[in-house]
Amino acid sequence: MTNQLKVKMILSKEFKVGKIDDRIYGSFIEHLGRAVYEGIYEPAHSSANEQGFRQDVMDMVRELKVPLIRYPGGNFVSGYNWEDGVGPVESRPRRLDLAWKSTEPNHVGTNEFMNWATQVGAEVNMAVNLGTRGGDAARNLVEYCNHPGGSYWSDLRISHGWKEAHRIKTWCLGNEMDGPWQIGQKTADEYGRIAVESAKAMKLVDPSIELVACGSSSSAMTTFAEWEATVLDHTYEQVDYISLHNYYANRDNDLSNYLAQSLDMNHFIKSVASICDYVKAKKRSKKTIYLSFDEWNVWFHSNEADKKIEPWSVAPPLLEDIYNFEDALVVGTLLITLLKNADRVKIACLAQLVNVIAPIMTDKEGDAWRQTIYYPYMHTSVYGRGTALNPIISSPVYDSKDFTDVPYLESTAVYDETNETLTIFAVNRSQEAPLLLEGDIRDFTNYRVIEHIVLENDDVKATNQINRTNVVPHNGGDAEVRDGTLLAHLPKLSWNVIRLAK
Ligand code: AHR
Repeated sequence: MTNQLKVKMILSKEFKVGKIDDRIYGSFIEHLGRAVYEGIYEPAHSSANEQGFRQDVMDMVRELKVPLIRYPGGNFVSGYNWEDGVGPVESRPRRLDLAWKSTEPNHVGTNEFMNWATQVGAEVNMAVNLGTRGGDAARNLVEYCNHPGGSYWSDLRISHGWKEAHRIKTWCLGNEMDGPWQIGQKTADEYGRIAVESAKAMKLVDPSIELVACGSSSSAMTTFAEWEATVLDHTYEQVDYISLHNYYANRDNDLSNYLAQSLDMNHFIKSVASICDYVKAKKRSKKTIYLSFDEWNVWFHSNEADKKIEPWSVAPPLLEDIYNFEDALVVGTLLITLLKNADRVKIACLAQLVNVIAPIMTDKEGDAWRQTIYYPYMHTSVYGRGTALNPIISSPVYDSKDFTDVPYLESTAVYDETNETLTIFAVNRSQEAPLLLEGDIRDFTNYRVIEHIVLENDDVKATNQINRTNVVPHNGGDAEVRDGTLLAHLPKLSWNVIRLAK
């Protein structure tokens, strides 16, 4: 291994993937663990507003500029009666949540969540229950949320104090219906039928909505690929997106292999796009189905702790992964992979947002704090709007346990036409050497580096904790434009954001 590895990149406004749909920076809040109760909602907290929402958490969500939040599940939605969560809070039932073996008090429901989402500036991606319920409950929820008034369900909403319709645009037709853990698991044909009939009814109530059909729970499911083909065979003309879910992990503590897992995400995306196009060809359809990667993240740290949690409590501390520095690098590579596929992936949700496998953590009655993965998510969401470019990259590669030809440099770039800024996102996967980046930025004449943000740490296992911030970015990177060429050192194992403007 040399002391320094050379990587090259050619960037042009003409080499592009396509316009980025802002919803690619979406996230997810499920009624699970402490995401809702003690997460976004804690009426007794010193920062709580009149509705009981923690304003310290809201500030962090706003800082992330989250455009879309999936709600209310997840596995939870497959046993949820949405009617339990509307109307006077004091008359709402306490229910057993069978998905997470918890008790759901229903203090927060559809209207409260819509109110919170509006306050943080996010749209909602609403999931309907196709596990224990079906098209009837789903179309009633669309009517309750989106119909202006003058019908039973819309007037009920108005009587609950919500005169204006919520106008929710994006809806998920159930959740992970292929999974044996799911309440109301279905075969692909069973799900395809219930999904298409629900979709028809929901779009009859509001033709402006967009619908996401459930793809496989992960590419590791034995039914993967056949599931997508069958579901789309039933639903093709009624739905707009198919979902992808995948969680990544470093179970063997093999860092070079862990850092390469974004190649698996890329392969998964390409495979699902191919299945969509196969069904398109088979149906002689002119319509293209887009992808909604509506659950992705690192998830494994909390698996053992979760086995010890007593069932049936309200807001147990479930799925509370504490992320380290290497997880932040992996999340960075996953975000870059989503951007590289921005022509096909229109929605993506970092699962989840608060306390549950989340970038934001809270202490009951205490502070909110930022995990390591908060930073790559924030940087891409804030600076990664506009057009995804398709840089030509030349990088040395390595092999790992499960992958071959893994480039040391994982990178992409975004051009924001509105303020004429160019932003390069880059991860150096090398554990030994910095990368010397030489960028041909041809048609970005007179551009200069305005900031080179770096997230680096000598300890890959370093974590942030409440009141202990070990992993934070600095803006001391050395990127510069010299004689029209971009030059930068990307430290070994680092996340980089290089921002250029005229
Ligand atoms: O995000 C946590 C869980 O992971 C979701 O509830 C489920 O959809 C997936 O299995």
